[in-house]
Amino acid sequence: MNNISSPIPLSVPSFSGNEWKYLKDCIDSGWVSSEGSYVRLFEDRLRRFTGARHAVACANGTAGLQVALRLCGVGPASEVIVPAVTFIAPVNAARYLGAEPVFMDCDEFLNLDAAKLDEFCRRECVRTRAGLRNRRSGRIVKAVIPVHVFGSPCDMEAVMAAARRHGLKVVEDATESLGSRHTAGHWKGRHAGTVGHLGVFSFNGNKIITAGGGGMIVTGDARLAERALYLANQAKDDPIRYVHDEVGYNFRLSNLQAAVGTAQLEMLPAILRRKKRNFDLYRALLQEVEGVRFLGVPPGTAPNHWFYSLIVEKNRFGRDRDEVMAGLARRGIQTRPLWRLNHRQRPYRRCQAYRIEKAPWFEARLLNLPCSRELTEAQVQRVAAAVAALRRRRG
Ligand SMILES: Cc1ncc(COP(=O)(O)O)c(C=O)c1O
Repeated sequence: MNNISSPIPLSVPSFSGNEWKYLKDCIDSGWVSSEGSYVRLFEDRLRRFTGARHAVACANGTAGLQVALRLCGVGPASEVIVPAVTFIAPVNAARYLGAEPVFMDCDEFLNLDAAKLDEFCRRECVRTRAGLRNRRSGRIVKAVIPVHVFGSPCDMEAVMAAARRHGLKVVEDATESLGSRHTAGHWKGRHAGTVGHLGVFSFNGNKIITAGGGGMIVTGDARLAERALYLANQAKDDPIRYVHDEVGYNFRLSNLQAAVGTAQLEMLPAILRRKKRNFDLYRALLQEVEGVRFLGVPPGTAPNHWFYSLIVEKNRFGRDRDEVMAGLARRGIQTRPLWRLNHRQRPYRRCQAYRIEKAPWFEARLLNLPCSRELTEAQVQRVAAAVAALRRRRG
């Protein structure tokens, strides 16, 4: 299968645990939708794994973010601070609620720049009785969404301090960072996603574990967890007479998905070891190659190494990122650039963007290398050798 010429995809899932067994349980029992016992089991296991106090399974990460934002009071005519660098889902989640995004720059690890977040709140906003008012728009900024990009934890100490100072709620987008931890500082020992008021994980097919789609809202606040469950379950006030006092959502996870998710979660510790091993190998193989380097690991964190992000600097490598991507594609190796920056996406071009300076630099240079969890040592060597061979010497 994995001979020298076979294609190497960017990221594919694998199912080597109890997935079939648990799925069969669901089908044999007839419990396939959200009332089944695997939903509760999955919530419980994820809670225990991450140390979160409460967990509510939901249809996907985007839905979880929408519910979490709503629980923070985000609605029409409010604003949410979001990263310019992230998959677009958290931005859309704010927009679904009628809120306006305000785009923030990234730091050297691609995460939300916490210093600029604080600066924006101090310079561009004013504290009022109604909350933090954006001077330019007149709207109230309700929340900030730090995204742990590609699995590297944000500087949550600085984000939480800024949020506290300015009265913002924090919804952690931990969709890419299941298994990532803070290892030093105030949040030492805490998993990414469990620091803010609410956090959200995703079990989409490309994530570190998958349920074939799915998400999980986590929080330390029992009342928020109860509200999340209520809203995700169509805001059912009386489940017999079907009384609904609010507009809810059909956002619960199915038992079939939870069964797959539970089986995958059992394998997560081994997956994390493998992801780190392959990251270390890539790094060792490419460290002598001039003009390329991997994105650093934020100090005081242990990331899940979901994606392996390479920075290609043309002046030293002799080729730019797009040429490297094309060269690798010719060798059957699938890679991907960074997402188009969100403040330049068509639906959001008119929204406020605050001093986006670092993000365009990364947008032009970043290349994500194959990172499937079943990636073999031989495949990592093949990718690294192909990257090295593309370097063009001057003269
Ligand atoms: C940063 C980020 N946020 C949100 C999502 C949305 O998760 P889902 O696909 O489960 O809706 C994803 C991934 O898909 C993501 O990468």
